[in-house]
Amino acid sequence: MSSPGGASNFPEDFLWGAATAAYQVEGAAGEDGRGPSIWDTFSHTPGMVFHGDTGDVACDQYHRLDEDLDLMAGLGLKAYRFSVAWPRIQPGGSGPANPKGLDFYKRLVAGLRERSIEPVLTLYHWDLPQALEDKGGWTSRETSSRFAEYAGIVNDALSEDVRFWITLNEPWVSAWLGYGAGVHAPGYADPAKALAATHHLLLGHGLAVERMRVGDNRIGITLNLSPVRPAKEERPADVDAAQRVDGQANRLYLDPLFRGSYPEDILEHYRPDTDLSFIRDGDLETVSAPLDFLGVNYYMRHTVREAERPRAGSLLFPGIRARSVTPHGAETTAMGWPIEPDGLTEILVRLKDEYTNLPIYVTESGAAFHDYADPEGAVEDEERVSYLDAHFRAARAAIGEGVDLKGYFVWSLLDNFEWAEGYSKRFGLVRVDYATQRRTPKSSARWYAGVIGRNGLEG
Ligand code: FCB
Repeated sequence: MSSPGGASNFPEDFLWGAATAAYQVEGAAGEDGRGPSIWDTFSHTPGMVFHGDTGDVACDQYHRLDEDLDLMAGLGLKAYRFSVAWPRIQPGGSGPANPKGLDFYKRLVAGLRERSIEPVLTLYHWDLPQALEDKGGWTSRETSSRFAEYAGIVNDALSEDVRFWITLNEPWVSAWLGYGAGVHAPGYADPAKALAATHHLLLGHGLAVERMRVGDNRIGITLNLSPVRPAKEERPADVDAAQRVDGQANRLYLDPLFRGSYPEDILEHYRPDTDLSFIRDGDLETVSAPLDFLGVNYYMRHTVREAERPRAGSLLFPGIRARSVTPHGAETTAMGWPIEPDGLTEILVRLKDEYTNLPIYVTESGAAFHDYADPEGAVEDEERVSYLDAHFRAARAAIGEGVDLKGYFVWSLLDNFEWAEGYSKRFGLVRVDYATQRRTPKSSARWYAGVIGRNGLEG
């Protein structure tokens, strides 16, 4: 690690990037042979997404690729993390590739390379082909094999130009918000389904890694991880709830990936709901196949208390009698998420101490605020600047403690379709006026370009 020019600097070759995901930005939902995904179905179901918003058009990146690539180059991005829409590649979830779907990503990757921006490709950012959901989705073992087949197709087509491959984005969210809490597609609220989905997602990850182990590609997975603490240290019920939340949100993913086993306390907890027969001999060996890096998405720490029910604005951890609370006095983002940058240092150091010495990339970090645009569309988003500044400092503190952190991707390049919140929450460095699709870099974009240019913070 070098720090020329002062303590603020980051390691040489630090990969500063920005991230998006297919369904959130692409639009063109019915074009060039793309099939429907669970998010098309879910967002078109009345009452599931705020304001009835859908990703039909989103930021229309499918048709505005060059403009968006130029925007990235203008910011000086060193890397761009995007996801491939499975239903563009295999509209029905299996069978041969749709060449037009692959073409779009070939153009994207070529455009990045022309601008010297490193492509970081995520294979699955939640848009499961609806045809697979109709056969059980992630609760079905078959979906794991289908995922590996799809991963192989994309890998064969793009591995010459893409070095960084991420199998899954945030399997906790896919499983627990999609199948456990019912607030994301496909909309089931059944903890037993969520646990089966967790296993099949991880199995699919492991099978995809096996399938993609050719050449010198770097393969990883992205987890959303959060340190967890009890609302009241002196309340044993809250201490236990915190242990359960850590089990469901962190250990249920980290243990199988890095230790080849599931955390017993969490399995024990769900035994009344399921006989766990979906876990077969040999599966955990597949799941724990060696990786080249770990992606971490960090948004918040969880402060939790024992509770039977969620409350508006609180995160629910399905089936474990726990919900999050906002710590007294904490500032929050427009999502209602507490702003706690030191939680990033804490989780990164814990990964090194307890799980892995693999290189780590923060593959998402960022915040929605109530941005105000002037008539020209300009946004002075000082809150986002201080949010990012504080989180970059927290990342640097982790590097100082020996964490091998190699890159950081701001969520997000653009304002976009924020899942169940629709277009009401704006996370972008760049504002999108959805009526005209006009893009306007916010103050935070200019500030971030400065950070990238000097490879560090001021002061
Ligand atoms: C993460 C998702 C990403 C975005 C951010 C705000 O959980 O991976 O798509 O919605 O949250």
